[in-house]
Amino acid sequence: MQSFIIFVLLLDFISPCLCTRLNNIGTQNSIYNVMNYGAHGDGKSDDTQAFATTWSNVCNSVGMSTLVIPAKKTFLVTKLHFSGRCKGKIHIQFEGKIVAPSREAWKAGESLISIENLNGLTIDGNGQGGADGDGSTWWQCSGCQRPGVLHFHSCNDLSVSNIKITNSPRSHVSVNMCNGATFSHISIDSPPTSPNTDGFDISFSSNILVKDSNIKSGDDCIAINGGSSFINATGVTCGPGHGISVGSLGKTRPNDQVSNVNVRNCTFIGTSNGGRIKTAPDTDVSVSDVTYRGVYGTCDGNIAVNLDCSSAGCHNIILDQINIKSNQQGKKVSAICHNAYGTATNTIPSVPCLLH
Ligand SMILES: *[C@@H]1O[C@H](CO)[C@@H](O)[C@H](O)[C@H]1NC(C)=O
Ligand SMILES: *[C@@H]1O[C@H](CO)[C@@H](O)[C@H](O)[C@H]1NC(C)=O
Repeated sequence: MQSFIIFVLLLDFISPCLCTRLNNIGTQNSIYNVMNYGAHGDGKSDDTQAFATTWSNVCNSVGMSTLVIPAKKTFLVTKLHFSGRCKGKIHIQFEGKIVAPSREAWKAGESLISIENLNGLTIDGNGQGGADGDGSTWWQCSGCQRPGVLHFHSCNDLSVSNIKITNSPRSHVSVNMCNGATFSHISIDSPPTSPNTDGFDISFSSNILVKDSNIKSGDDCIAINGGSSFINATGVTCGPGHGISVGSLGKTRPNDQVSNVNVRNCTFIGTSNGGRIKTAPDTDVSVSDVTYRGVYGTCDGNIAVNLDCSSAGCHNIILDQINIKSNQQGKKVSAICHNAYGTATNTIPSVPCLLH
């Protein structure tokens, strides 16, 4: 009899608490952990469906919701598609590791993880979690259409931080038709011999900032493609890789345009180029208003500055405070220009070849 009374009292105590908490969840922050939707997190079982179910709950949730990919777990997925429009504001807590299936088991089409049509999405990790594309079997296959790992399409006011993306078959992170995105503390790593493994591949996007990130890849650390403007890279360490590049422009679309790109406080270590602008050969894409200022370091070859422009010419090229020496003592490096117009001040090597 006594225990019965206690039981009733306890229930009375607990139930008002539970009610308030449940009421708050709807309007404050609901947590959706993939482990509660059937994910195994053992790196072997296919967790694709568990992620899809979790996403549909998150996307239908009003208010603020967090999709949790928990730390210390590995999730094999064949395809993830996080697509909006969704009802509330979404945060992905990306602390675990997502791994791609083998090439034979690949189901995802162009990217392992596609994130589309979302406004105000935040993705944040703990620096340990992220996604691995298991690219090695793809890199060997020259005839394969290789996929990427993380793709954003039509996402505005996006923030992504503290995640690792590794061994992509192709580009690691691609950003297409997004306006307003900040990527910070992103670690990208694939071998220097891996083909076409751009770190970031940005196209038809504007107001994008990549900052405080470390990119090692077999291709461009950041490629800024046609239709992009107001793209900044700040505090990025690149290498191995091909550098931070605009283009190639004009390869598939003759009207490709890129403008307002700022690369600041970036470090290039063991890269084939530093900052470069590539246009497809035989096109008349014009290049103008480009400033290289405060660039210093060493280079391996004989040519430190290469301004090789098409017949349309490059105009208003400003070189200022450049100091690039050979990495071999006593060896001279030089500059070459072709159809390049502009001015050079305080440069080592001297750049006497610019046209006025
Ligand atoms: C990029 O840098 C420019 C020049 O410093 C600045 O005006 C602009 O706000 C920056 N944009 C982003 C998205 O960081
Ligand atoms: C680059 O670094 C300098 C010196 O640390 C700092 O003053 C400047 O604000 C940085 N620029 C950007 C765009 O972060």
